[in-house]
Amino acid sequence: MIISAIAAVDSQMAIGKANTIPWHSPADLAFFKQKTLNQHILMGYQTFLSLPKRLAKRHYLILTRKKLSTLPLATTDLCFLNNWTDVLTHCEANKIKELWIIGGAQIYEQLLDFCHYLHLSRINTTVENADVFFPAIPKHFELQAQQHRTADEHNLYDIDFQLYKNLLLTQ
Ligand SMILES: NC(=O)c1ccc[n+]([C@@H]2O[C@H](COP(=O)([O-])OP(=O)(O)OC[C@H]3O[C@@H](n4cnc5c(N)ncnc54)[C@H](OP(=O)(O)O)[C@@H]3O)[C@@H](O)[C@H]2O)c1
Repeated sequence: MIISAIAAVDSQMAIGKANTIPWHSPADLAFFKQKTLNQHILMGYQTFLSLPKRLAKRHYLILTRKKLSTLPLATTDLCFLNNWTDVLTHCEANKIKELWIIGGAQIYEQLLDFCHYLHLSRINTTVENADVFFPAIPKHFELQAQQHRTADEHNLYDIDFQLYKNLLLTQ
């Protein structure tokens, strides 16, 4: 299974504030959609709560330490899991070939080393009083490609779309 993390960060590596993403970037949302459509996306429970609406045509895997019996019934595209081992077991049982780790900070922190790829959108802004940050990118993640997108009338910020490869898991 290929595992990729995908995140958007500001100039200080902030990813969130008050359990939301503190910028509006249609271009980055479109990028996120293009990468994750029809895929399995893994998120922490806080990120699950933070999403303003269900992302269509995505299979949700949600990490939580809560007792599963206390949560809404899982459906084929909404699945709560208690730990990373259970995620891997679930993926294997369901023959999932690609997994996208979509945050938040706690999940990136714990799972980045298991990712083959990291897609980082560097949003050219600095959020005041951000409260969650992307972890330091390990040295064994090598920048493979970068694409610049200039701000326009719909997108307030320039973005650098970066792709990193985990040299310990890929050739
Ligand atoms: N900019 C971006 O790309 C981006 C992407 C995603 C999210 N965000 C932002 O990030 C923030 C949320 O991040 P966060 O770090 O506060 O929370 P999070 O990582 O989304 O979720 C944390 C929760 O996940 C569960 N969890 C964590 N580790 C676990 C483990 N090993 N096993 C089982 N469950 C585990 C726990 O849920 P329980 O408490 O239920 O046990 C924990 O409280 C929000 O501001 C959101 O908007 C930004």
